[in-house]
Amino acid sequence: MSDSILRLDDVRIAHRHTGEEIVHGVSLELHPGRVTGIVGESGSGKTLTCRAVLGILPRLFEISGGRIELFGRDIAGFTDRDWQQVRGAGITAVFQDPGSYLNPSLRIGPQLAEPLRVRGGLTRRQAKTRVLELLVDVRLREPAKVFRSYPHELSGGMLQRVLIASAISLEPKLLIADEVTTALDVTVQADVLDLLTDLTASHDLALVVVSHDLAVVAQICDDVLVLRDGAVVEQGPTERILFAPEHEYTRLLIDEHSTYGLDRYRTAEVVPGV
Ligand SMILES: Nc1ncnc2c1ncn2[C@@H]1O[C@H](COP(=O)(O)OP(=O)(O)O)[C@@H](O)[C@H]1O
Ligand SMILES: [Mg+2]
Repeated sequence: MSDSILRLDDVRIAHRHTGEEIVHGVSLELHPGRVTGIVGESGSGKTLTCRAVLGILPRLFEISGGRIELFGRDIAGFTDRDWQQVRGAGITAVFQDPGSYLNPSLRIGPQLAEPLRVRGGLTRRQAKTRVLELLVDVRLREPAKVFRSYPHELSGGMLQRVLIASAISLEPKLLIADEVTTALDVTVQADVLDLLTDLTASHDLALVVVSHDLAVVAQICDDVLVLRDGAVVEQGPTERILFAPEHEYTRLLIDEHSTYGLDRYRTAEVVPGV
């Protein structure tokens, strides 16, 4: 389809030396403003799949089958220059541990401003204004104060918002959020998920949300893909997966949640707007 942002067609990932296949054929298609979730327990191949899309697979691994298209173009033919163009401006990612992606010795504001100046071509003053707007966009309450802060002065939830601000600063079309809420308290987790949902609408972002936690994925995704040991066990609209799971493994993931949280999301699905 013409407006497809991301398309995976039977993507396989294998160990480069042993030839062992780790991811056994993932297919999905993502359009602007849509949210797809990838859920599965730790080690099921979620992060490798994301890294394949981002062109940053660990050296030991290779795409051994299928194809990945970004903006309608097969990434197999991408040059370094194509990747440079597409990263940041086209696709971007946020991972679990925000602290490790920030320079601890630099204040937040200048760190966020740098790519806006270097890659976005803004002046110093324009970049500062834009960073402050972005900090508001990600609902940080005291943007000017955050701008002047060092990473260690902010909480985990605030840092994750800063990373999200940084990720959207060059107006990407696709954001990959890999376990972004995993290290956060449940209430902060819900806020960050709300924020991501709003951003998909306000920035017309396509979003891939990756989590080991079905409740996280269920809360904001239109479609869900359930991965187990590198194989897709089930995929489809979130409601269908939640209410009429076809696979035993999906039922297991749902049951794990019956005691804490998922029921809330399921109820919310039934009564929209409540
Ligand atoms: N850098 C790496 N070196 C060696 N093995 C890895 C590396 N990254 C992932 N793996 C292996 O690949 C499999 C899938 O990992 P991953 O995609 O990180 O799973 P998930 O994100 O679902 O937890 C796991 O068995 C993991 O041990
Ligand atoms: Mg992972």
